[in-house]
Amino acid sequence: MPRTALAAVHDGRGNRLEIKEIQVADPGPGEVLVRLGASGVCGSDRHVLDGEWNLPSPTVMGHEGAGTVEAVGEGVTGLAPGDSVILSWYYPCRRCRACAAGKAWACTGTRAPECLLPDGTTRLRDGDDVVYPYLAVGTMSEYTVVPESAAVRIPSDVPFDVASLIGCSITTGVGAVVNNARVPAGSSAVVVGCGGVGLAVIMGLALAGAHPIIAVDTAEEKLAAARSFGATHTLRAGDDVAAQVAELTGGGADYAFEVIGRVETIETLPSLLAPGGVGVLVGLPPEGAKAGIDVLELAEAGKTLIGSNYGGAVPSLDFPRLAELYLAGKLPLDSLISHRVRLDEVNEAFDAMRDGTRTRSVIVF
Ligand code: APR
Ligand code: ZN
Repeated sequence: MPRTALAAVHDGRGNRLEIKEIQVADPGPGEVLVRLGASGVCGSDRHVLDGEWNLPSPTVMGHEGAGTVEAVGEGVTGLAPGDSVILSWYYPCRRCRACAAGKAWACTGTRAPECLLPDGTTRLRDGDDVVYPYLAVGTMSEYTVVPESAAVRIPSDVPFDVASLIGCSITTGVGAVVNNARVPAGSSAVVVGCGGVGLAVIMGLALAGAHPIIAVDTAEEKLAAARSFGATHTLRAGDDVAAQVAELTGGGADYAFEVIGRVETIETLPSLLAPGGVGVLVGLPPEGAKAGIDVLELAEAGKTLIGSNYGGAVPSLDFPRLAELYLAGKLPLDSLISHRVRLDEVNEAFDAMRDGTRTRSVIVF
């Protein structure tokens, strides 16, 4: 029997979300029905609302969520009703070459970017109309149906607000440090952009033992937050950032992370690095964006630029690991949540993100 759910829906035009009742069907074979406990408000949703990425619509937004398994479809053996799960916005197909090689983040068989379940449909409706779950999860809804491979069980003592963040920003940020860059202890690092994801990069650097950790942002509030998560130095974004980084690190950082998704800041990454340094692209730019890189500087000084998608994570491995680190007191995830809001406050949460005045809002159901 389909059930109704309140959801934040984007109609594909403009940047506002409408809170409306949708119908959520039973889970099909290999699928699970999840009752959401919390959904983070992440920068990747904003890209869609601000028209930078194109998607099928109408769309239930949200891709950073956690909740409880309510029912399982035929053939689901790994999950049962009552399990606490974090949703993954890039469900692995478990059949392609990347999946076989253990690189879930590079899966080529997933239909998540098309906002579709593996069979090419969705379980969401608004009357007769199909509704698409953003990245096949659509976490800004009381209920959603996802493939079993998109729901990862975690210990039930992790609160949903914290767990939701592991579903995107924490995995993306900490994973960029430990999976993609594999930063050795004692390395110097600079992080450009200290929103929810950038602060997670800083947490990952602190966990890895990087030093110094230099945070760069336009907003003083974000720099204060960066210090509380382990940044040893903070710089206001501006022309002389490269010179200041060079001075603080004795000639350039070993690692530099861009966590905004702006072409202009991506282009500055090589100038922040020491010879042999590694620049990591975490922020996602608008579709079709091209960056101009000083090629001679990169080649002569042996610098590397690497892309990082979902922190190079294998969610079934990384989500429980990050949850355990949180429970052990090694990742201060509670402090990342600056605002807990209701579903109908979602538009204000995105406005605050655009103004740069909040670290992270989390919708609590
Ligand atoms: N220089 C430095 N910092 C800047 C600049 C700039 N020119 N412009 C904006 N910022 C800062 C903002 O003040 C904010 O703190 O970048 C941060 C961006 O953070 P959020 O908007 O909160 O976004 P977040 O959720 O952290 O995501 C960042 O990572 O995964 C991707 O798709 C995501 O592209 C997005 C990026
Ligand atoms: Zn996200």
